[in-house]
Amino acid sequence: MSRLIIISNRVSPATGEGGGNQGGLAVALSAALRESNGLWFGWSGEETETFTGAINFQRADGVATATIDLEAQDIDEYYNGFANQTLWPLFHYRIDLAEFERGFAGGYERVNARFADTVSPLLDKDDLIWVHDYHLMPLGRELRRRDFANRIGFFLHIPWPPMRLLVSLPSHRELVESLFSYDVVGFQTRDSLEAFIDYVNGQMELTVDADGMVEFQGHKVHLIACPIGVDCEQFRRASEGEAAAAMRARMTASANDRTMIIGVDRLDYSKGLAERFLGYERFLSARPEMHGKVFLLQIAPPSRGDVTSYQEIRSSLDNLSGRINGEFSDAEWVPLRYVNRGYPRDELAGMYRAARIGLVTPLRDGMNLVAKEYVVAQDAEDPGVLILSRFAGAAEQLLDALLINPHSPEEIADAIAQALAMPLAERRRRWQSLFETVCSQDVMWWWREFTRVLEAVPQPSPSEAAEG
Ligand code: G6P
Repeated sequence: MSRLIIISNRVSPATGEGGGNQGGLAVALSAALRESNGLWFGWSGEETETFTGAINFQRADGVATATIDLEAQDIDEYYNGFANQTLWPLFHYRIDLAEFERGFAGGYERVNARFADTVSPLLDKDDLIWVHDYHLMPLGRELRRRDFANRIGFFLHIPWPPMRLLVSLPSHRELVESLFSYDVVGFQTRDSLEAFIDYVNGQMELTVDADGMVEFQGHKVHLIACPIGVDCEQFRRASEGEAAAAMRARMTASANDRTMIIGVDRLDYSKGLAERFLGYERFLSARPEMHGKVFLLQIAPPSRGDVTSYQEIRSSLDNLSGRINGEFSDAEWVPLRYVNRGYPRDELAGMYRAARIGLVTPLRDGMNLVAKEYVVAQDAEDPGVLILSRFAGAAEQLLDALLINPHSPEEIADAIAQALAMPLAERRRRWQSLFETVCSQDVMWWWREFTRVLEAVPQPSPSEAAEG
């Protein structure tokens, strides 16, 4: 088995059992790294005065990490700039929020080159290299420029946008061409994979064969859809553990016989929080008999606070939540509990279990792991109902959720009413099917599947590698 090198913008290894507090992705990638004695490389999240490329090595619980600090201009142009003000909005269909600045594009190229320069001395020729997400698309090309002939894979965690949106990016062609330096490019969904194929057919006049193979300038790339999952077993354990039970009991006491609906999202415009609040408001207006009987707990830890569009969504949600509570609350009941902080995962598991409805309504999402975790955390005897946006990647798999259009307040309001009235037998039937789906393609399945495809790529002979 080859050594696995994972490269991503953020590095967050999972150590120990973590009491269920490590994200599924961190748990899975850490397991993969432990198995192959690999290395996880990325940005430390820290700023330094001048970029030096100095690497901070750490090792905990068999997982080795190597991180670098970035200078202020890098963070501005690469992370806050091209990654989160150009690619993120565009790839989530928000061209209205996308900023196309040459400085951002330049910073993105520069930081990708810096990643390549600093990781290069750590790589051996047999390593399997797996690059993650939109921050680092050109990294494969940068490594090839430095003569690495290794098998290199790329996985995109966010949606791939339709061709007609993507072409509004001035450097769209260069960005896509850079992906052809990889051996395997993975997407979350069939939908994203098809949008990518559409682009390579339409803009590059290349043909992708039925197995997802496409050749560009003599190099073959394997395109796959490989949906990420959650760590089913660990999260199930967490949801049955002590911290979850304590949190569940606290929530039940504070609910005071009212039915709880839960939403948990990073505070991001792609998550459709304003639309969700409006849908819930519609439900409250249409059903006065439900006043005092339900409440929505929306947990939304702030994120990317240096970016204006995030400051704006935060302030508009402050207004909207205030308006809804002002309109409907009475002395003993607040319909919307809007909380701008995060919770440990084992406590979240307890909250999910206490909630009759999981309300997951992003306008666009690569996958959405909250939807899957909500399912895993439910009590099999008395499970809650998942209301899920059709535009979350997870909707391709979770067909037994109540699937809604998140832009329609009426659909959200109707789905809430339907979920509240759903008979136990139907809740059990839907949940059973969702649970089986979520746990059969969990996060361990995902990394094994991706790395299996990557390992199947024939390694170039030394002479080919020298020519390449
Ligand atoms: C999404 C992205 C990840 C990113 C995460 C948190 O899930 O796909 O790559 O790490 O959001 O965002 P942040 O900007 O805080 O890393």
